[in-house]
Amino acid sequence: MDGVHVTVLLEEVAAACADLTSGWVVDGTVGQGGHAEAILARTPPAVQLIGLDRDPQALEASSRRLAVFGDRFHPVHRGYDSMREVLDEKGIAMVDRVVLDLGLSTTQLDSDRGFSFEGDQPLDMRFDPTEGRTAAQAIRETSENELAQVLFFFGEVPASRRLARRLKEESRVNRMETTSDLVRVCREVLGPNVRKMPSPVLPAQALRILVNRELERLDGFLASIPTFLAPLGRVSVISFHSGEDRRVKLGFRSLALTREFTLPHRKPQSAGPEEQRRNRRSRAAHLRVIERIPEDEA
Ligand SMILES: C[S@@+](CC[C@H](N)C(=O)[O-])C[C@H]1O[C@@H](n2cnc3c(N)ncnc32)[C@H](O)[C@@H]1O
Repeated sequence: MDGVHVTVLLEEVAAACADLTSGWVVDGTVGQGGHAEAILARTPPAVQLIGLDRDPQALEASSRRLAVFGDRFHPVHRGYDSMREVLDEKGIAMVDRVVLDLGLSTTQLDSDRGFSFEGDQPLDMRFDPTEGRTAAQAIRETSENELAQVLFFFGEVPASRRLARRLKEESRVNRMETTSDLVRVCREVLGPNVRKMPSPVLPAQALRILVNRELERLDGFLASIPTFLAPLGRVSVISFHSGEDRRVKLGFRSLALTREFTLPHRKPQSAGPEEQRRNRRSRAAHLRVIERIPEDEA
């Protein structure tokens, strides 16, 4: 991998913003700024964009990329689950479009922050290296039983109990500190591959979700949509695994039941064959959209 993050479903996300003539867009996972750039390029100057990311390095990269848009881009080092607080601090009542592109970027995968299995890196995995505990600490501080549940529910890892036991055993003797420690134990318990992927992939996904409290943050965001979305406003969420997509589907459905929101597409949108060929990552992407109905029609 060459460290260049290829944005998924770029056209679909940009098109959902292209009708705006003014107002606020929030890219809640601005990352390298791929979606944000397309949105800013296709909207007039009266449209402004707030870019949130928990990763300060991602914000630096997107700020550099989006400097050409001057003061239309507002980077903020916060999680998308703090959306309402961020808007309050900026004195913004409601926003017109929100985009989330969940998971991690290729740039993070290629960094030395413990997201990949090449080389030997500290077992960190925090999106925001300024707060919270690393994956090595999380393994140390989580009970064997809870760790088995994390592996099973967040990663669908087979033999999750056996793997949790071995991770705890190694952690107790300070042998679960680096990515190569994780690779060694995953291979020992699961063999070289699980579901056609190298065996550390699914356990690492589960640990990353635990470390970054990803599902908790997503649930908090989904529940807060009524507090920030303007009438006719839209939220678009791209997810990459079934645990996330299920939460988005159920969260959107329960909002739609209130009749204040509608779901423009019954099924999630996926990348077309050409995009799937160009970008392997896009094969797992599901885009779901929710729209707020104006009060007089609700
Ligand atoms: C797939 S990347 C986004 C890529 C971006 N859309 C682009 O086109 O360049 C996901 C980003 O979300 C960030 N992230 C993950 N959880 C977050 C959260 N709770 N709040 C804000 N950002 C988060 C990660 O740090 C990462 O930079």
